[in-house]
Amino acid sequence: TVGSSTNIKWHECSVGKVDRQNLLKQKGCVIWITGLSSSGKSSVACALSQILYRMGKLSYVLDGDNVRHGLNHDLGFKAEDRAENIRRVGEVAKLFADAGVICIASLISPYKRDRDACRALLPDGDFIEVFMDVPLQVCEARDPKGLYKLARAGKIKGFTGIDDPYEPPLNCEIVLEYKIGGGASPCEMAEKVLSYLEEKGYLE
Ligand code: PPS
Repeated sequence: TVGSSTNIKWHECSVGKVDRQNLLKQKGCVIWITGLSSSGKSSVACALSQILYRMGKLSYVLDGDNVRHGLNHDLGFKAEDRAENIRRVGEVAKLFADAGVICIASLISPYKRDRDACRALLPDGDFIEVFMDVPLQVCEARDPKGLYKLARAGKIKGFTGIDDPYEPPLNCEIVLEYKIGGGASPCEMAEKVLSYLEEKGYLE
């Protein structure tokens, strides 16, 4: 669909995705990290980006908090705004993947339909959904920005997990589980995603 745009035509370039992938010696894809606030999405995203960088692989992190400073500064946290936030990031991630880049998107993305809409933008297999499976109590105990505290006090309305929904993925590619006692570090979690990328041939 082209939305409100009319009289527009797709233009093909002679340099294509395969050429760019050959140049970079990797395959473009989207790693979509979903989970509650403070579940560790950004830490895993950055750890993965760092490991890939050391391997000479090009990645780029699209972080919800950061993207909301620029591209999505006009959006709040109502369901429609979250949907538009995710739609825009999904479209940008698709462009990065088409450029041959391993794009790591880390957003709460609480609604399954919004995540599925992003998945539908990518060729089969190129949307890799990663669920940070961390209990709310653990995220709330971490609370590095003090937002859960404000939400519990009623000072932030519609906070995910408190008075706004989070729909966990049912069939995602990777689950990064929190384990009581000795949980894996962001680096160890990132290694799990890395193994998946290696196994599926995205790094060759
Ligand atoms: S979403 O749901 O995907 O559109 O959210 P996202 O773009 O990832 O932004 C989440 C960060 O925004 C801060 N924040 C809130 N989160 C949830 N609900 C409400 N109401 C809210 N208000 C502000 C919060 O710091 C989230 O950061 P992370 O990195 O997820 O902890």
